[in-house]
Amino acid sequence: MTTTDRLALAPVAAGDVDTVHAVFADPATWTHLPSGRHTHPDQTAQMIDHAAAGWRVHGLDSWTVRIAVPVGDVPAGTVVGIGGVSPRDPFHWNLGYRLSPAVWGHGLATELAGAAVQAAHEHDADRPVVARALTTNPASIAVARRVGLREVLRGERPDGLVRVALADRELDEATLTGVAALG
Ligand SMILES: CC(C)(COP(=O)(O)OP(=O)(O)OC[C@H]1O[C@@H](n2cnc3c(N)ncnc32)[C@H](O)[C@@H]1OP(=O)(O)O)[C@@H](O)C(=O)NCCC(=O)NCCS
Repeated sequence: MTTTDRLALAPVAAGDVDTVHAVFADPATWTHLPSGRHTHPDQTAQMIDHAAAGWRVHGLDSWTVRIAVPVGDVPAGTVVGIGGVSPRDPFHWNLGYRLSPAVWGHGLATELAGAAVQAAHEHDADRPVVARALTTNPASIAVARRVGLREVLRGERPDGLVRVALADRELDEATLTGVAALG
């Protein structure tokens, strides 16, 4: 368990499927990529399985995010989403976050992302931290910038959307190519 001022962060686990699915099924969390929305809990279970494997094999992956204090109208103790760093090939930590709209705008994603970058650096500082976001998602890009990531790559995807990658350091060509291929 990792804690920050307002968050309790625990390795995402099978028992979290229902609460995490509520966030991943909410169209408001996918306005920038509606096709990514989870329409069945099995999709969320599969994502959590993948993260659980990351915890087993690499010792670090996504957290379930629980607020330790009330935020807006949301009481302390509520699971509000997931986030953190996941190991990805080519060798890097993928920084991600998805929170319930009820808690947006309070700096929680920035707090979460800061803890995630710190955890990545403590766990394996040789592996760069990389966040990918669409240019239509300025909030996501702002969070990555706030925790020290800088743009290293920008490109148009086959669907016409423009994806930006931000990293905590310069990336070598192989990693840049691999990150671009992730979409
Ligand atoms: C992205 C997300 C995690 C941000 O969560 P949050 O807790 O509201 O984020 P924070 O409050 O820590 O910070 C948001 C930042 O975005 C900025 N922001 C918010 N909306 C913005 C907009 N439309 N344009 C520009 N900046 C915006 C805020 O001002 C803030 O930046 P600042 O701290 O420099 O002022 C949340 O919106 C979310 O879950 N979205 C849906 C899922 C998603 O898009 N995940 C990322 C996929 S790449």
